[in-house]
Amino acid sequence: MATKTVGILTGGGDCPGLNAVIRAVVRKGISQYDYRFRGIQKGWKGMMECLWEPLGHEEVSGILPKGGTILGTSRTNPYKTEDGGERVIENIKRMKLDALIAIGGDDTLTVAHKLAVAGAPVVGVPKTIDNDISNTDFTFGFDTAVNIVTEALDRIHTTAESHNRVMVVEVMGRHSGWIAVHAGIAGGADLILIPEHPVTVEEIVATIKMRHQRGKDFSIVVVAEGTTIASEEYIVQESGTDEFGHVKLGGVGQLVSDIIEKETGFETRVTVLGHLQRGGTPTAFDRVLGTRYGIAAIDLVHAKDWGKMVALQGNKIRAIPLEQGIGELKKVDDELYEIARIFFG
Ligand code: F6P
Repeated sequence: MATKTVGILTGGGDCPGLNAVIRAVVRKGISQYDYRFRGIQKGWKGMMECLWEPLGHEEVSGILPKGGTILGTSRTNPYKTEDGGERVIENIKRMKLDALIAIGGDDTLTVAHKLAVAGAPVVGVPKTIDNDISNTDFTFGFDTAVNIVTEALDRIHTTAESHNRVMVVEVMGRHSGWIAVHAGIAGGADLILIPEHPVTVEEIVATIKMRHQRGKDFSIVVVAEGTTIASEEYIVQESGTDEFGHVKLGGVGQLVSDIIEKETGFETRVTVLGHLQRGGTPTAFDRVLGTRYGIAAIDLVHAKDWGKMVALQGNKIRAIPLEQGIGELKKVDDELYEIARIFFG
């Protein structure tokens, strides 16, 4: 039987654990199924332009603890170009791919779904530090980001306390507050603001004042970048959108800081953690999850179970239809936010 060729790509924002997935796919694919691999460069851009490099034992050696992605990534959306979808399908043939594994968040998986509907042999692996993919309990990268933010909060605590300041920490989370809530609980935040629970200026001010009235002279506020304050408007760094229609968020931390200082008179500072949350080595949890996803993804390829993605449900890795993971983003559970709220003020 002729050796089968499998393409792998990583799309969207990078995330710790991507290399663990790539390594697991390639290691099991070669040792158990005798597959050959092509590493597609720069996400869907590589599929539009036939950019690839061979991927074998040598290339995946030593990558497990590395952050980022050895394949590179982009936010290219083939469906933004006329005939882009058809071009990717033609290029699957041109690159002689028997299967394609797309590792990415909602945008990348939506493209994978469209291609699968058009008949392409595609499977997906969910990825995002935001942890907002539906029907999967955790995406790799999230645990690493939460640990980075928690460590930052521990550090910010000591300086807040020394100076009797309010410290506002802006974290990632475009449409969901998973990072803010998990790290906020772990880091003992006194107020956590997330997109799922818009608040008024009065509520923010009342919480901080209440805390100071009960004798505390410093506060830690965590705010997810996609939180809106007193309006429907996102706070953005610049106008314009990427190929998937996303604005560049950033600035809500400064807004919250300004509000608190003006309305309470307490000295306030803001820290924006930004891409620190996405860089560097993955935690052991993310390495294990990425490895499990990679193994399950190559098994899906072997079973020719196209149009599916792998997902963590309970402690089991399952295969679910791609459409169950995309479209509607997974929001922070009310139950979890209620736990966080007990410690506000
Ligand atoms: O989607 C993950 C994410 O980390 C978001 O939380 C954030 O808004 C976005 O990526 C920023 O990505 P970039 O700076 O790469 O455009």
